[in-house]
Amino acid sequence: MNNPLVYLNSNGSGSLTPLSEAKVSVLDRGFIFGDGIYEVIPVYAKKMFRAEQHMARLLRSLAAIGMPNPHSKEEWLQLLQQVMDAHSGDDQMLYLQVTRGVAKRAHAFPAEMVPTVFIMSNPLTPISSEVRAKGVICVAMEDQRWLHCEIKSTSLLGNVLAAQNAVEHGAMESIQFRDGYLTEGSSSNVWIVKGDVVIGPPKDNLILEGIRYGLLQELCAAQQIPLQERRVTRAEVFAADEVLLTSAGKEVLAVVKIDDQTIGKGLPGPIYQQLYAAYQEAKAAN
Ligand code: PDD
Repeated sequence: MNNPLVYLNSNGSGSLTPLSEAKVSVLDRGFIFGDGIYEVIPVYAKKMFRAEQHMARLLRSLAAIGMPNPHSKEEWLQLLQQVMDAHSGDDQMLYLQVTRGVAKRAHAFPAEMVPTVFIMSNPLTPISSEVRAKGVICVAMEDQRWLHCEIKSTSLLGNVLAAQNAVEHGAMESIQFRDGYLTEGSSSNVWIVKGDVVIGPPKDNLILEGIRYGLLQELCAAQQIPLQERRVTRAEVFAADEVLLTSAGKEVLAVVKIDDQTIGKGLPGPIYQQLYAAYQEAKAAN
């Protein structure tokens, strides 16, 4: 059986352990309350991609929920590197989770908690070229999540139900709307293209600021593609020339149908092609 090495800090001391032996207490607040923060970091050619930005977001999320940061940035990067080095693949997906730790069950934070830190890595499975060439189908739904979507919290029930809704509709992602405006996918940011302009919802409490949000801004600037951050109506999404998803796993991916409605020409469009090519160059230059 595949039994990769993972990093687990339980009871204060951390080590690399075979996955099958990595155990946490049932009283861990991650298990009891979903009281935790996580990051998903792609690795290309044995090098973490946009590690600095992932670290900055981790710190923002920890601060937002009043969780003490158990490690310096250098220590975090070393731990991630250790897990990465314990795996043979060149391209990996690192997963890091930190919870508030183990305590008798009580909603408010107990004093003097020792955070539980867990890091694993999985082989990176890219979106196939067939899927990329055709584009993907999504389904629209009302955003039913809480109002702190900017925090990368392990409390993901709203996202889990949105992802399940997509599966049940034979779709890649649910595209969520709140009060008639676009928010994001169940595990991706969503963009529309109108004419030659890329438009994405503002970085506020209603969406997670993906690491690819900033990257798309950089790629658009370098390609001289105008990008606007503003509220996007449901009608604008359906009338868009192109719709794009971005996330660690999807990189940038074209949406060609939402519900039963074709987007643009029903094929990945020219702005997608340009941004996907630029994304591959950014990976190569990492
Ligand atoms: N999810 N919005 C949500 C709700 C997400 O869960 C994600 C990523 C993103 C895109 O963020 P990034 O560009 O940093 O991947 C936006 C990760 C991949 C996950 O939960 O597995």
